[in-house]
Amino acid sequence: MKPQHVSPITFLPSGKSANVPNGVTILDAARRAGIHIATRCGGKAGCLMCKVHIEDGSASSLSPPGEAERRKLGGLLDDGIRLACQAKLAGEAVVSVPEDPLKAAIRKRLEEAKKGEEDRLW
Ligand code: FES
Repeated sequence: MKPQHVSPITFLPSGKSANVPNGVTILDAARRAGIHIATRCGGKAGCLMCKVHIEDGSASSLSPPGEAERRKLGGLLDDGIRLACQAKLAGEAVVSVPEDPLKAAIRKRLEEAKKGEEDRLW
């Protein structure tokens, strides 16, 4: 049996990382690192919910985009966006995970409420 090459992947903004065998998708690597990436299609390049940004220098550490990913992402590929369910690790990588839209909305409301309280105190 051939030994599997293992590479580190780091997720931003949390800084959590995992060492995963090459060939594992970013989505599976995220689960191993304890990072939640939302999905709806079960990893079939159908929902686009698993978009992540590949940090500088990490693009060559991933498998090239396949037909389904190219079709779904189009020009976003040029901006360093990949589908976590499709991109497979082939070396050390750093990936930014966008904030969950629901969490972002809740955080914004809490910040607005806190600001309103501070304004009333002054
Ligand atoms: S999980 Fe749906 S597109 Fe990746």
